Amino acid sequence: MAKVAIMGFGTVGSGVYDIIEQNSEKLCRNTYGEEISLKYILDIRDFSDHPRKEIFTKDFDVILNDPEVTVVAEAMGGLHPAYEFTKSLLLAGKSVVTSNKELVATYGTELLETASANNVNYMFEASVGGGIPVIRPLHQDLTANKITRIAGILNGTTNYILYQMFTKNQSFDDALVDAQEKGYAEKNPAADIEGHDACRKIAILASLASGKAVDYRDIETEGIVNITLDDVKYAEKINSVIKLIGYADFLENGKIYSVVSPMIISSSSPLSGVDDVFNAIMVTGNCVGNLMFYGAGAGKLPTASAVVADVVDCVRHRERPKKIGWDKAEGNIMASKDDVEFAYFIRTEDSEDAVKAAFGDVNFISSNDNERVFITQKLSGTQMDKALSELSSIKTSIRVLD
Ligand code: HSE
Repeated sequence: MAKVAIMGFGTVGSGVYDIIEQNSEKLCRNTYGEEISLKYILDIRDFSDHPRKEIFTKDFDVILNDPEVTVVAEAMGGLHPAYEFTKSLLLAGKSVVTSNKELVATYGTELLETASANNVNYMFEASVGGGIPVIRPLHQDLTANKITRIAGILNGTTNYILYQMFTKNQSFDDALVDAQEKGYAEKNPAADIEGHDACRKIAILASLASGKAVDYRDIETEGIVNITLDDVKYAEKINSVIKLIGYADFLENGKIYSVVSPMIISSSSPLSGVDDVFNAIMVTGNCVGNLMFYGAGAGKLPTASAVVADVVDCVRHRERPKKIGWDKAEGNIMASKDDVEFAYFIRTEDSEDAVKAAFGDVNFISSNDNERVFITQKLSGTQMDKALSELSSIKTSIRVLD
């Protein structure tokens, strides 16, 4: 029997509890006959009315010092004390699984090293894409490929907000309140709408795909707070939508270009049809071509589904831990903004002549009394900065995804 503990009884932790309690027979089959039994739930809040109140504890040391507990599901969120608890558990020879993208993006390299040195597992399938299997497929099923590009809708809250703006003409603020009420948003929704959550997730995917730690602090990050209903209207005019994209390009020279920003997505891209709170990750491999992983990227049971899958995998691989992860990067592995080119969607009050003088050939979407709206040719970062500096007003500037 595998004795398991859950740390944090919020949205995800309670989902892990529900799945382990309800699907125990199925889980037992999948561990090849070893029953998974929940021994502790750690939470500082009071759960004395809970039907399994006897397994709740407020004392982390009870879990740490119990030799029977071999796998711990960390669903606390935040960096501290999740980092200290995880590190202690790994050092004590217990496997840890997590949905905590902030922790994996910040301390993942160190925690993976600690797990490896202590011959235990540290798994994080739920940290990206909620219930969508993407970490394990990247590590396992795509192992024959050199990954050349990842472009993902990695944040459900922002996808929900943009979807509401496109389909219901709802304002940004109203859609955000909706997403918070549905439990999709982070405690501090700035992490969602300013792109930081997606940034941590693309850092994790880029690290995994390249095998080298990508520091999320090296990724230029822009959220969706400046997207307006006017931008939405013009995007529709060119049969496109706007999505917040976590992007990583793995260049021939071994460097990685990564950015998080809103992007114009043509209706011909499968990413354009990813609606509501759903996430999708397009992965390009040099053998397999394009793949898209799609599903529920947030929410109680979808996220818990991935956490429990990791628990089962830890039980299966107790003797010979799986090494899903990456190594420390030597030197600077990040490409510069001049190693890649994007076309841009721009709105400005400047004249058509001024636009042409700054950008050369462009495709005008609209030119009226108030503004010029156009798509540029593909430009490097420096070319774009120079052209923008020649205009006197920029209302919007959004990358276009190929
Ligand atoms: N706030 C996150 C989102 C939760 O909206 O995608 C899942 O990581």
